[in-house]
Amino acid sequence: MRVLGIETSCDETGVAVYDTDRGLLAHALFSQISLHAQYGGVVPELASRDHVRKLLPLVRQVLAEAGLAPADLDGVAYTAGPGLVGALMVGAATGRALAWALDRPAVGVHHMEGHLLAPLLEDPGLKPPFVALLVSGGHTQLVEVAAVGEYRLLGETLDDAAGEAFDKTAKMMGLPYPGGPELARLAESGRPGLFSFSRPMTDRPGLDFSFSGLKTQVLLAWQGSDQTPETRADIARGFEDAVVETLAIKCQRALDQTGARTLVVAGGVGANARLRERLQALAEKRDARVCFPRPAFCTDNGAMIAFAGALRLMAGQHEAAVVTVTPRWDMASLPSV
Ligand SMILES: Nc1ncnc2c1ncn2[C@@H]1O[C@H](COP(=O)(O)OP(=O)(O)OP(=O)(O)O)[C@@H](O)[C@H]1O
Ligand SMILES: [Mg+2]
Repeated sequence: MRVLGIETSCDETGVAVYDTDRGLLAHALFSQISLHAQYGGVVPELASRDHVRKLLPLVRQVLAEAGLAPADLDGVAYTAGPGLVGALMVGAATGRALAWALDRPAVGVHHMEGHLLAPLLEDPGLKPPFVALLVSGGHTQLVEVAAVGEYRLLGETLDDAAGEAFDKTAKMMGLPYPGGPELARLAESGRPGLFSFSRPMTDRPGLDFSFSGLKTQVLLAWQGSDQTPETRADIARGFEDAVVETLAIKCQRALDQTGARTLVVAGGVGANARLRERLQALAEKRDARVCFPRPAFCTDNGAMIAFAGALRLMAGQHEAAVVTVTPRWDMASLPSV
């Protein structure tokens, strides 16, 4: 089955074709970073309008790269939520219209299920059960995955998401938008241990997170420092170490609690090199396995939507030709496959 995947939940237009026999055939992404940079954050209306401009050219490009005509598609998957409602509507309306014109089934995909399943896309041997750490710009969750579509939330952030904390901390220290990857780059040249920040909520049992206090600690350290480039790098390193260590401690607890032997990491912060290294070491120590998507599939992309949609379409799940999106959507409400 060849499935077209469309992702437009936020500030990235992503399109891909996934073939259930041959794997990923083509994918393309257009990032709106430069469009939103001058505002220091995503402007929803500008995001929607740019998806309108970019989506069809990207669909044509991906089909050409895959050597397919529209009629060769067997189904269409699009992100139906969570996300910005206007941006979601662009992908949903386009995906639905395309499927209707081609007389093919279409399915609305949960964006976080897309992230969660991304590590399986290029690793056919990887199957549930496992524990997933979802660390993105809007979410920090530990999820027990019994099967595709069977998700139990073990813990989540009570305030900022890990990616959000990276972005806000970077902004506070004057780094350009989007700050997360920039701060990670800066941390590479920072010296460890010079600035030591707390590992929030690791001093008590449980699997929830809280990152907003950490951000305040960094702000105070930055304001009280000499604010030289070297100090900024040292603070960035201290912040990154605190986030990475906090995530690692909770992952370890989640593995202990569930008895799972596999940890799957997804979402934009999953592209962080130090986090990947730390979780790899943790897995090796306990004879477990940790799996990440390639860094480009950690952040938003069409491939994960094509893949997650293909699994649901293969299971016979699709919806009537009505465009609906769900900007707030509890993953626990999904049917199992
Ligand atoms: N190397 C990195 N180190 C740390 N954070 C990173 C890195 N690369 C990306 N990020 C962070 O990942 C986030 C973007 O990831 P992603 O695209 O998955 O999130 P989102 O789609 O905005 O949020 P959600 O999926 O929760 O709706 C940003 O917060 C960004 O700062
Ligand atoms: Mg995302």
